[in-house]
Amino acid sequence: MRRILIATSNPGKLRDFAGAAAKLGVEVAGIPNFSSLPLVVEDGATFEANARKKAEEYSLAVPGEIVIADDSGLEIDALNGAPGVHSARYAAPELLGQEPHEAGSNTDDEANNQRVLRELENVAAGQRTARFVCVLAAARDGQTVATFRGTAEGVILPAPRGSNGFGYDPLFFFPKIQKTFAELTAEEKSRYSHRGAAFRKLQEWISEQG
Ligand code: IMP
Repeated sequence: MRRILIATSNPGKLRDFAGAAAKLGVEVAGIPNFSSLPLVVEDGATFEANARKKAEEYSLAVPGEIVIADDSGLEIDALNGAPGVHSARYAAPELLGQEPHEAGSNTDDEANNQRVLRELENVAAGQRTARFVCVLAAARDGQTVATFRGTAEGVILPAPRGSNGFGYDPLFFFPKIQKTFAELTAEEKSRYSHRGAAFRKLQEWISEQG
């Protein structure tokens, strides 16, 4: 394999993928004209379903190429796995008057965090376990050829801590190094995060492809 194309318009994600693949001698690029392709609707019930759907649909635009897409989010045990696949728009009921699965746009991180804190108000410290999950899917010509899942296990704090990162990072305490994800450097985040773990599995797969 000489080249993989990433289904994202986010330059930060593209940079992360390029960094992960650099030492393997694989070229990493965005899908040409990505922003002019029809948006894939992320209506799957799981992270894996959404990642596969995106990778498969976008791969049809670039015949013969390997396309990588991702989906990620936070699962809180006391909320039966919510916000889950709705992580990016969990505050939609308050902000948009719509359920997250109907919302056409994401809601801001602060409002999403506030909803989580409200719902966990009466949940004891020992019951606030959660995990970040990232699934990457690789597809070619409309078919998924591999998926990679990474997780990070932690606990939801009663108040935010730290100012690095994004999303739910300030609420997510990672016991292994006694910091929230918003207190990690970029290097620590890639070492401990769900995304880093999924990336390493992707790297391994790339190096096995020859
Ligand atoms: P997406 O995979 O880019 O659609 O991200 C889904 C949502 O999950 C984000 O908008 C965040 O709310 C949450 N999320 C995913 N990964 C992280 C992370 O590393 N830190 C904090 N929040 C995250």
